[in-house]
Amino acid sequence: MAWAGFIKIKMLPMTNLMLVSILSSIFIVTLLSFPSPAEADYLYHVCPNTTTFTPNSTFQSNLNRLLSTLSSNATRPSGFYNATASSRTPNDAVYGLFLCRGDVAATDACKSCVSTATSDIVQRCPTEKQVVIWYDDCMLRYSNESFFSTMAETPRLFMWNTQNATEQTRFNQVLSTRMNEVATEAANDADKFATSQGNVSGLVSIYSLGQCTQDLSSADCNRCLRGAIAQFPNCCSGKEGARVLYPSCTVRYEVYPFYQQNSTSAPQPSPGALPPPLPPKGKVK
Ligand SMILES: *[C@@H]1O[C@H](CO)[C@@H](O)[C@H](O)[C@H]1NC(C)=O
Ligand SMILES: *[C@@H]1O[C@H](CO)[C@@H](O)[C@H](O)[C@H]1NC(C)=O
Ligand SMILES: *[C@@H]1O[C@H](CO)[C@@H](O)[C@H](O)[C@H]1NC(C)=O
Ligand SMILES: *[C@@H]1O[C@H](CO)[C@@H](O)[C@H](O)[C@H]1NC(C)=O
Ligand SMILES: *[C@@H]1O[C@H](CO)[C@@H](O)[C@H](O)[C@H]1NC(C)=O
Ligand SMILES: *[C@@H]1O[C@H](CO)[C@@H](O)[C@H](O)[C@H]1NC(C)=O
Repeated sequence: MAWAGFIKIKMLPMTNLMLVSILSSIFIVTLLSFPSPAEADYLYHVCPNTTTFTPNSTFQSNLNRLLSTLSSNATRPSGFYNATASSRTPNDAVYGLFLCRGDVAATDACKSCVSTATSDIVQRCPTEKQVVIWYDDCMLRYSNESFFSTMAETPRLFMWNTQNATEQTRFNQVLSTRMNEVATEAANDADKFATSQGNVSGLVSIYSLGQCTQDLSSADCNRCLRGAIAQFPNCCSGKEGARVLYPSCTVRYEVYPFYQQNSTSAPQPSPGALPPPLPPKGKVK
C-alpha cells in the first residue's frame, strides 16, 4: 500500500526588509514501496540573481574548490562541514557548508546527497554568489560573505501535507510537547540534532525532528528552532505533516517515520518505556 499526497511549497524570500509571500509550486510526493536511501530528493533552492560573479573568474575557481572540498568531506561522522576557499584577492573568498539530516550522517545517503547538491547547484545557479539548496537528506549553502556562526532565518521554506490531522486538539498538544522537546535536545546535542516520537492515539503517532547547522551556538540553535516551530500554526495549522526550513535550522513532523529510528543521535526511550514500534517496512500510511 503506497501513500500519496500533495505537499505545497510556500516560500518567503527576503527582499531587503520586506517579506514577500509567493506560492511557488506544488509538488506531488509519492512514497513508493521501497524508496532508495541513495536518492537525493530536491526540495527547493534560492539564489538571488542580484549577486552574481563573472564566469571563469577567481571567484568561480574558488567556488569550484569549495564545492569539491565539501563533497570530499561528506562522509564525516557529524554529517556537517564548513569550509572557506580564498585566494590572494580577498573579495573572491567563498564560504560554504553542507548539513545532512542527522540520521543519515556518515551514510551513503549523505554522501550522495552532498554530491548531487554540489553538481546540481552549478546548473541551477550558474553565476550566483549566494545560494541555499535544500534536499530531503541534506542542504548546501555558500556565499561570498562569511556567515559561519551567524543564525539565518531567511530565506525560508514552508512545506505542508494537505491532509488534515484528526483529533486536532490532542494532535496539537502532542505536537507542541514533542517539538519543545526536540528544540531543547537539539540545541544541547553535540551534532545539533534531535528526533522525538509521541502518540496521539493508539493508531496515530507524531514523528518530529529538529536540527541546526553545527556552527551555531546552543543558544542560537534554540532560538532558531523555536522561531521555526512558531511558524507551524501560521503555515501549517491542523496539517498531518509540515516542515519549516531556514538556512540555519529545520523542523519537521509527520505521522509516519521519515527518519531512521535506530540513529545513535536519536533519543533513546527512557528506562521502562516500551521501544518505539518498528517503522513499517516499505509502506507508510
Ligand atoms: C533576475 O530575476 C528576475 C525575476 O526572476 C528577472 O525578472 C530578471 O530578468 C533577472 N535578472 C537578470 C539579470 O537575470
Ligand atoms: C558579495 O557580493 C555582493 C554582490 O556582488 C557585493 O555587493 C558584496 O560587497 C560582496 N561581499 C563581499 C564581502 O565581498
Ligand atoms: C571559461 O573557460 C572554459 C574552459 O577554460 C571555456 O571553454 C569557456 O568558453 C570560458 N567561458 C567564458 C565565459 O569565458
Ligand atoms: C567553520 O566555522 C567556524 C565558525 O563556526 C569558523 O571558526 C571556522 O574557521 C570555519 N572553518 C572553515 C574551514 O572555514
Ligand atoms: C482541511 O481542513 C480545511 C479547513 O478545515 C478544509 O478547508 C480542507 O478542505 C481540509 N482538507 C482536506 C484534504 O480534507
Ligand atoms: C498513546 O497515548 C495514549 C494517551 O496518552 C495512551 O492512553 C496510550 O496507552 C498510548 N498508546 C501507546 C501504544 O503507547
